[in-house]
Formats: sequence, structure tokens, C-alpha cells
Amino acid sequence: MSNATNTIESVLVENRVFPPSDAARNGARIAGMEAYEALCKEAETDFEGFWSRQAKEKLNWTKPFTRVLDESNVPFYRWFDDGELNASANCLDRHIGTPVENKTAIVFEADDGQVSSITYKDLLVRVSQFANALKSQGIGKGDRVIIYMPMTIEGVVAMQACARIGATHSVVFGGFSAKALNERIIDAGAVAVITANFQLRGGKELPLKSIVDDGIALGGCESIKTVLVYERTLSPWNRVEGRDRTFAEVLEGQNIHCPPTAVGAEHPLFILYTSGSTGKPKGVQHSTGGYMLWARMTMEWTFDIRPEDVFWCTADIGWITGHTYVAYGPLAAGATQVVFEGVPTFPHAGRFWQMIEKHKVSIFYTAPTAIRSLIKAADSDEKVHPKNWDLSSLRILGSVGEPINPEAWMWYHRNVGGERCPIVDTFWQTETGGHVITPLPGATPLVPGSCTLPLPGIMAAIVDETGKDLPNGAGGMLVIKRPWPSMIRNIWGDPERFKKSYFPEEMGGNVYLAGDGAVRSADRGYFRITGRIDDVLNISGHRLGTMEIESALVAKTDLVAEAAVVGRPDDLTGEAICAFVVLKRSRPTGDEAKQIAAQLRDWVAKEIGPIAKPKDIRFGENLPKTRSGKIMRRLLRSIAKGEAITQDVSTLENPAILDQLSQTN
Ligand code: WTA
Repeated sequence: MSNATNTIESVLVENRVFPPSDAARNGARIAGMEAYEALCKEAETDFEGFWSRQAKEKLNWTKPFTRVLDESNVPFYRWFDDGELNASANCLDRHIGTPVENKTAIVFEADDGQVSSITYKDLLVRVSQFANALKSQGIGKGDRVIIYMPMTIEGVVAMQACARIGATHSVVFGGFSAKALNERIIDAGAVAVITANFQLRGGKELPLKSIVDDGIALGGCESIKTVLVYERTLSPWNRVEGRDRTFAEVLEGQNIHCPPTAVGAEHPLFILYTSGSTGKPKGVQHSTGGYMLWARMTMEWTFDIRPEDVFWCTADIGWITGHTYVAYGPLAAGATQVVFEGVPTFPHAGRFWQMIEKHKVSIFYTAPTAIRSLIKAADSDEKVHPKNWDLSSLRILGSVGEPINPEAWMWYHRNVGGERCPIVDTFWQTETGGHVITPLPGATPLVPGSCTLPLPGIMAAIVDETGKDLPNGAGGMLVIKRPWPSMIRNIWGDPERFKKSYFPEEMGGNVYLAGDGAVRSADRGYFRITGRIDDVLNISGHRLGTMEIESALVAKTDLVAEAAVVGRPDDLTGEAICAFVVLKRSRPTGDEAKQIAAQLRDWVAKEIGPIAKPKDIRFGENLPKTRSGKIMRRLLRSIAKGEAITQDVSTLENPAILDQLSQTN
């Protein structure tokens, strides 16, 4: 809670306002607050008409819809559901015969700096051939396909090809473990995995294919019939005969035409797993029609995308940001985009700035964690400071994934944006499909650290536990009161969990609960996100459940008796993972504690992935519990932050362990 309190305090002191410059406003799609307000009004007064007009104008339908919103089975909302379309056709085919067809769709920069690019016309050929290759493997409409790929043109092609044949993809981030992959394959009932032999990051060659093999070997993956392997490097890999095929093998002789398969608007385009309050990740299911509509519209509204723009979203395709703002949105908008394989700090921490100069990037979209780490790097080494590169091509900057602290915002504004570029601090989630609360570059006066106002048609509010609206200035829970086209449709295979997680009974069962705390400023009613209100942590903009990490720790059954995980604020990563562990043997100290902590970190990396490694691990003979046996997490949060314990500990069974747990290793 004190984390939220700190943020609320900084809202109250933050009084710098940056109105849009004439340059940003002139020619913008939504120019000025009057234009924004008019759209909001239109959505409020004629909700269905508003969305219907947008969907007709922005998407190509093979069969037009006649129903806009079906609310007969709340909260299983259905949008445009008797309409039919194809997502890939809306990204590629729609540009053929227009000036966009010969435009560069993707400029790819590899980890080692090599650049290649592909036009819309050629991308369509690549996607069509790959779609035919998938068909030749017996993969078709409704099948689920796992994609475990590096950031490459091939990764985007794989996603688009699945969409083209109506197969539902589920991309798993390349940093996740064999175990995580195994769980996702089983939960999705996937028939195939698309992967690469290796991925290149930061000058290192890291395995992917062998992790797929390990994941499948863990058992329960009988549904997998095919593993397709992109040979990203020349390094050898192990082939499982009868199951594995290379891209080259399946692409051989494939027709360059593949008619897009029309699917219903509600057909699941993809499932993307994300962390929730329990140990098991949730398969967030997205639709085709509503999702594609929002991917395109937010490119136009939030980024005000123009034909001459070079768009660069640094997110990996393994996350929702890489879905909406790499694989789908920019292509639907007919934009030129940069896709980057590597990491921001290799071969030096000026790589991003160098790439902006080199590719003349005009819209740059990244995460606060990246910005904070590059600030730190620039502070200690002048040579990687953005001032060393020509960033004058930039027009709009974006931030996503976690709250951006005002200091980082100001640095980004001055040193990257040259005090000229609006910063769109976009709030959204895997579940929302695209931006929901964000400034508009040509309209919204910016306040550092605030995601400002909801997009037109998004009925966001801040309420108490019963769903009652709270006044500006009062912190509460962020909700969205009406459905919107790109919202989550279901948790794959678990409709009950879907209802329980997002549409609480106490609020009437039809209000979307975001899981974040928020407060609106007293003067402008601007939203500021104060952090998750559930057991989800945000580490470097990546979502992880505390229960997920706890389950991983206690799965080390020979060593761990009990574990509790909490988050604590971290200057660089936003939040850091702090684990309190009780071992099955006596409490270790000194070097032994260090060594066991290192062992547990490696274990968690193997169970989930390196991003889930706890930063702090503390050992105790017990955990602080009430007499009824409940772990007092509030106390653990204070200890993790190094705060003095001021809470009432009279209900605590064993107060002496607080001292033990306060000791770091
Ligand atoms: C957080 C990422 C503050 C929030 C697109 C949310 C943010 C979670 C912002 C979703 C922002 C995302 N300001 N917090 N601009 N954007 N968040 O599903 O806690 O990976 O619930 O989607 O990130 O993370 P997810």
C-alpha cells in the first residue's frame, strides 16, 4: 500500500503540464481536446453506432456484420459476431493495389547490426507461402499453434500465417523455460510448435529448439504432431525424426498465393498466457474482429500514424505489446516499422539511439525500465548518451508496461524527444488488447507520470469494492464499465475463472476489473495508475504472479518447506522480487545462505524463466503467521522494503523471526 501512497503523493506534487505543440496538433487525426471530447460524446450517446461506424470503416469484411454488440450472455460479450473477416488480409492483402504495396513493411536489424527489409508485397508472399506450408502439415482453422521464436521477420510471418489459415496462435516469450512451455502446450492443446534452432541476443547464441524438446519431453504433449524449425544460425541442433522439419523443407515448392480463410469475428485469433493471482498462468483469449479493429484504431489515434512514419516498438512478440504493436497494428495501418532482434545494451547502451538515427525512426515506443537503465548507462558513460546521435527524425515517443516515474519522463522528454515530442504514456493490459487510457499526441496536455484520459468509447472509472464511483483525488480500483471491441473474451478453457477474475459479482458481474489501483487528479481528472491490487508483480514491465514464484520455489521439494513472495520497489526494474524461504533443514547463514540462494535462483529460472529469479532471498525458521496460520504479507512487504515494522504484531505467533527475515544474503 505504501507504494501506492508514494505514487499518490507524487501525483499531488506533479504540476508540470505540457500542452501539445502546434506541430503535434496540426494535421493530427484528433487535433485538440475539443475533437477528443466530441468523439467521447459520440461514443456515449450512440455507443453501438460509434463502434459500428469504426468497424465498417477500418476493417475489410468478407461478410459484413449486422449485429454490433451481443450482450445476451454477460460477461461473454460478442462483437460484430455475424461478420466474417481475416486478420492477415486486413494487414497485408488490403494494401495490394494501393501505394502501400511497394512500401517497406519491416526493416529488420539483427543482433549483430545486419539490416534487411521487406515490402508489403513481398511480406504477403512470405506469409502466404508459410501459410501453405502450415496447411501441408495438416494444420488448419481452429488448431492451436505455439510460437517460440526470436524477434525476427520470421516470427511475425509465423503469426500472420497462422492468422491467415484461421489457426489460433499462442506465442511463448523466448525467455520462458521448458516447464512453462510444457504447461502452455498442454493448456492450449496445441498441434504444432514453431521455433528456431537458436536466438541471438547480446552477442550470445541461446537455444530455443532444445528447450522445446525438453518441454515436450516433460510429458502430456501428445497433441503436438509437428515442430517447425527456423534455422536462425548455422549451429547444429537435434532433430526428432518424423516430428521436426526445417522451414526450408516445408517451404519448398509452396505456392505464393494462399487465399485467406474467412473466420467469424469472434474466432480466437490468439491465446496469450499471462500471470494472475493463482499459480497457473491464464490463457487470455482474443477475438479476430474486435481485436483487429482496436489494433488499427489505436495506431491511428494514439500514434497518429502517417504514411511517412517509421514506427518502432521495442517489445518482443512474446508479449501483448509485440502482438498489437509489432505483429498486427503497424501492418494493419500500412506503416513501415523496425523490428529489432537484440537488446538495448549490446554492443553498447547507445544502441537504441543509434538505431533511431540510422533508420530515421519517427515514432518510438518502449518501456520505462529500458529508459531507466539507459539513463543510468548515459550517466556513467557520456559516449552512450542520446546527445551523441541525431534524433531529429523523432516525432512521438511512447511508454508502456509500467508506471513511468516523472524523473524518467522528463529525461525521455529532454534527451530523446528534444523537448519537442509528445510522450504517450499508454496504459493497457494483455486483457485489454490495446491502449485504453492514454494521451493523444495532438490533443492531450501531458502531465509527467500520468496516462491521462481514456480513449473514446472506453468507459473507465475508479470505484470502491462495491463498484461505487469515487471522487477525483481518492484512490480506488480501476474498472471499465462498458465492454469494448478488443477486450479479453475468455480465459482459454476456464470460463469460470474468467468471470471470477474480471467481472466480480459485487459490482454486478458486468464491470471489467482491471486489477490495478488508480487515482484521478483533482484538477483535470487525469488517471494515474498506482500499481496492481492483486498478487501480480510488474518486474521490468513483465507480469509475474507471486503465487507462480512461490509454487516454483516449493516445487524444490528436497530443500524448500515453505515460501512467500512479495514485491518491493526497485529504482531500475520498477518492482523487484523478494522471496522469504523456510528450508527443510536448519536456517543457513553466511556463505552457505548465499550458495543456497544462488541455487534457488537457478531453480526458479528453470521452472519459469530467468525473469522470475528473485532478487532477494531471505531465510527464516518460519514465516510470520497469525495464530490461525495466515502468512502476514503486509509485514513481509515492509521487511522487503527495509522499513521499520510499525504494524501491530501482537497477533503474530513468533515475533522473533522478523529479525531473521530482515537479514539479507
Ligand atoms: C501495468 C502490458 C502504469 C499495469 C501492456 C497493468 C502500466 C499491467 C502501464 C499489464 C502504464 C501497463 N502505466 N502501469 N502506462 N501500462 N501497466 O498485461 O499494472 O503485460 O495491469 O500488458 O502493466 O501488463 P501486461
